[in-house]
Amino acid sequence: MDPIEKDLRTYLAKLGSRGELLTVEAEVSPRTEAAALIDAAIKRGRPLMLARSTGNPMRMIGNSFGSRSAIETALGCTETGIMAWFGERASKAIPVVLVDKAPVQEVIADAVDLDRLPIPLLHQEDAGPYITAGIGITKDPESGRQNAGYYSLQLKGKDRLALRMLPSTQGYEIFQKRLKRGLRTEMAVAIGLHPIEMIAASAHTPFDEFELAGALRGEPLEMVRCQTLDLAVPAHAEIVLEGVILPDVKEPEGPIGDWLGYYPLVEDRHIFKVERMTHRRDPIFQTILSGTAEENLLLAIPRGAAALGAARKAASGIRNLTLDPFLPCCVLQIAKTFEGEPMNALLAAMGEVPFVKIGIAVDPDVDLHNMNDVMWAMVTRTRLENDVNIIRNVMGFSRDPFQLYKAKMAIDATVPLDLRDKFKRSKITNAPIDLEKYLQKAT
Ligand SMILES: Cc1cc2nc3c(=O)[nH]c(=O)nc-3n(C[C@H](O)[C@H](O)[C@H](O)COP(=O)(O)O)c2cc1C
Repeated sequence: MDPIEKDLRTYLAKLGSRGELLTVEAEVSPRTEAAALIDAAIKRGRPLMLARSTGNPMRMIGNSFGSRSAIETALGCTETGIMAWFGERASKAIPVVLVDKAPVQEVIADAVDLDRLPIPLLHQEDAGPYITAGIGITKDPESGRQNAGYYSLQLKGKDRLALRMLPSTQGYEIFQKRLKRGLRTEMAVAIGLHPIEMIAASAHTPFDEFELAGALRGEPLEMVRCQTLDLAVPAHAEIVLEGVILPDVKEPEGPIGDWLGYYPLVEDRHIFKVERMTHRRDPIFQTILSGTAEENLLLAIPRGAAALGAARKAASGIRNLTLDPFLPCCVLQIAKTFEGEPMNALLAAMGEVPFVKIGIAVDPDVDLHNMNDVMWAMVTRTRLENDVNIIRNVMGFSRDPFQLYKAKMAIDATVPLDLRDKFKRSKITNAPIDLEKYLQKAT
């Protein structure tokens, strides 16, 4: 396996050398064109680099980690092996190392002016441009540990952003603890990171997410002290915003299209005041379109690995599990020995990840990454009168204004053990075959 790249730009260069990175050289508007172009690239399964934005010299990257080939290039594992890859590596945190000189501090901006960033307008009814790929770093006043997570930021002024830090996050808990102690809440926002740090920041861990990044890398992550804050940031990030969450200032935030594909309600949220901006020479601004495969994958990897671990404790014969392409739907692959095992495993997995609303268990001959195949198993193998359980009054997705997540459904789409010989899957003679070779053969 190739060594894992240190940063976003070397990873993008690798994608480029493999012909997997699309680039638009023409000048484009971050407000009217960028999101639609990235959306079009997503439909082709490719990341997109926008080399020039109107009135702004910074490059922008979208969908940097939203495809099968990106998983293989970034992590050196396959889509099928991704949960096991995470589960094996994530168990032991590796402390970060502090360096004195860091690429992310090559340039220290004279004055803070967020208009220097090509922040895009992502959805038609969004209240304004949003930074969606900013990893917010804060410090727990009790443990002294740093915490990191994605919290979207709505542009409000040259040095002001409305902070969409939801009450379910550890970041919010830290902010509340600091408020109670009368401490100011410093926060650094790192933008432009390698997929390893992106996955780690999406996780909900009791320890520092950058120690998790070290564990995933198999070596400590290099961090550097902020210029103005008592915090450290990834040394190889592209851009860092240093600032403070204003305790007494709130402004309306939203709407912004969210991961479920809707516009959540507008709410008053705290303002993050930026006091210093540092970046690399020639920085790359990173953005993530919400509700896309990229966002789902980032959330699904750590949570899917936890669900897989829980399922394995509940039943034997578990082959794999995925929360992709859609987090509220869990597909579990199992070679069952006893009837009832798939249901036990589904209940354990769905209990582990409250987001999950529907769980489906399939046999090992079903491709769990192919929803058509999963649907085929459901319609041909499920005895609806026996194999579907609705579990009521359980905890669901915490930000569910319409209370649609108060129940879960578990579907056992595995073949009944005593009917196996009647459910043998038909196979095409000699498939799969290399069609390309035949097309190129001289007639
Ligand atoms: C691309 C992306 C955008 C996200 N946006 C938000 C957001 O705006 N607000 C929020 O509270 N969580 C958001 N999340 C989820 C959190 O980052 C995630 O729950 C994380 O575990 C929070 O970290 P923490 O619990 O350590 O604070 C987002 C996740 C991803 C992958």
